[in-house]
Amino acid sequence: MADFEVVFSDVGQGDCTLVRLPDGEYMLFDVYRCPGEGIDIFKLLDDVLPDGEEGKKRLKCLAITHAHDDHITGVGELYDRYEVEWLWVPQHEERKQVASNFAEYQRVVDEHPEGKIKRPQGSRTALNEKDPDYDLCDGVSFRCFSPPGYIEIDESLSEEEAKELVHENCLVMKVSYEGSSLIITGDSNLACWKRVFGYYDGDQDTETGTEVLATDLLHGSHHGSRTFYKDGDESSEAWTDALEAIDPDVVVVSVGEDNAHGHPHEDMMGAYREQADDVFETSQTGTIVMEVDAGSNYRIVLDSGRFAEDYAWDEEKSAEAGSSGVLAAGVAAGVGVTAAALAKRRRDRKRSATRLDRQPAA
Ligand SMILES: [Fe+2]
Repeated sequence: MADFEVVFSDVGQGDCTLVRLPDGEYMLFDVYRCPGEGIDIFKLLDDVLPDGEEGKKRLKCLAITHAHDDHITGVGELYDRYEVEWLWVPQHEERKQVASNFAEYQRVVDEHPEGKIKRPQGSRTALNEKDPDYDLCDGVSFRCFSPPGYIEIDESLSEEEAKELVHENCLVMKVSYEGSSLIITGDSNLACWKRVFGYYDGDQDTETGTEVLATDLLHGSHHGSRTFYKDGDESSEAWTDALEAIDPDVVVVSVGEDNAHGHPHEDMMGAYREQADDVFETSQTGTIVMEVDAGSNYRIVLDSGRFAEDYAWDEEKSAEAGSSGVLAAGVAAGVGVTAAALAKRRRDRKRSATRLDRQPAA
């Protein structure tokens, strides 16, 4: 087990990214748990999380990039099942019903002690340098690019107006450890990235001297949607300034097969391939892991077989979801694939482990 690991879980049509901190604690960016889709994230968490108090396993931090269904489905059950210490939430959409599972998300925010909720905001300084509450673990640095530092909860926004702003004010964070880094993007869109680029392009990290926007691994926004760099359909003008500034070696796109929105978009994937050395999709490779050991290169490990076998959905749960013809929560995410078909594809995947060694960022 590496000192620091980022597990881009293959959970089907949503995002669910687990980070193992060097002290053995874990944080999770987004939740998506739908029977029959990808792996059962609870099985993975049950397996790796340390014991908490009162018989529950402990999750050091749950961070939600935005409250859309493919990023919060199962959050209530997760919250009840594990002892969650910190909750990081995007503040702009509180109490606005921006998704069908929003009530579940809001309940979690309401139940969590206010003193243990953080609402990260963009800043030129790393969050944990400004506020010790963000110091989840020695050596791990968190930087927030979005939502912007000036944003306040706007109670006067209508639900429709709030919905319009969800991707623009999505949580975007850079996580760094021992010279290696990744950027978590949620579903951040062009408007978000134009603002982020305007603020942070050219900024250098005072400690490392590297560009703050540059990173080794980019979690491709919005399941590979072109909304990251275009404001319309495929023929719209492409804006690649942010992608060039981020200049990732590796792009990981979390998406399921047969996505109803057509994600990932081929033009976006082409732009990623042009900029990065490697571009991976969870729909093709299964769960993807970034490993970092102190003092050495980071590695990308493609070993979907291990995750697919060890954390497979119980047959009854998959069957229950499949009996309705389509996956219940998948419908919310715009999917029309039967659980049985997905289970078969998982079985057909070859079990293989590929390790790609990387140079750490200078
Ligand atoms: Fe999404």
